[in-house]
Amino acid sequence: MPSARELLAFYLEAGVDCALSETPVNRLVEEPASEERPAAKPALFRTANPIPAPVLAGAAPAPDAAIISAREIAPGAASLQELRELLERFDGCALKSTATRLVFADGNPEAKIMFVGEAPGRDEDIEGLPFVGRSGKLLDLMMAAIGLDRSKVYIANIIPWRPPGNRDPSPQETQICLPFIRRQIQLVDPDVLVCLGKPSSQAVLDLKDGIMKTRGKWIDYDTGTRKIKAMATFHPAYLLRQPIYKRLTWQDLRSVQKALAGVAS
Ligand code: URA
Repeated sequence: MPSARELLAFYLEAGVDCALSETPVNRLVEEPASEERPAAKPALFRTANPIPAPVLAGAAPAPDAAIISAREIAPGAASLQELRELLERFDGCALKSTATRLVFADGNPEAKIMFVGEAPGRDEDIEGLPFVGRSGKLLDLMMAAIGLDRSKVYIANIIPWRPPGNRDPSPQETQICLPFIRRQIQLVDPDVLVCLGKPSSQAVLDLKDGIMKTRGKWIDYDTGTRKIKAMATFHPAYLLRQPIYKRLTWQDLRSVQKALAGVAS
């Protein structure tokens, strides 16, 4: 019989590192017949605010409704602060209920360059800032190699809430969060956009191929108000596992440095 400590270690290893509720649920007990179940509360829209945000007590709305709602409301945020508040009120993404807090962004909103990662991990969820864990430390080094630090860049993720156990975000979760990161890019309005890793480059830049093929190539990203230079490169978490690709990343970073020098002059 494994001890409680051994069981906990096993759960942690399997990625189960957060509790979803205070009390355990026995899923082997039969559920009440449907007529006995309390009726689901209808989706409501908070109207006190100028921008409506969907609210469902205790449960997220169906993904399709949430995607439609996100597409409707995100473009209405007039500033980064408004966008942050909008996300704080948005209950359309179930990840919000398991995350500790919103991880909106870090860095300088006036920056010429913006990095977009995938989703916060455990450290980010605790601190409320993107890229503060191990991969964040490597990102800091990557930026430092081309003379950048967090006072000169803006950093965000496609998904602003940590997926439980650091699992991959589902395609629906990505689609729900995409309008918000697109609006964030539009509001920051950088000259250069760098997407870290395949999920970010596929979702934001609409690139279909894997990161080996897409990395290091400049493409135009249409913010909705203008076209900016965008590039995909390796995610620092991937580089921690595969340091051999740091060489190629260095080439990408040099190219980013040149692009920034170009827009500065
Ligand atoms: N990985 C990401 O993609 N984003 C973070 O903020 C941290 C790790």
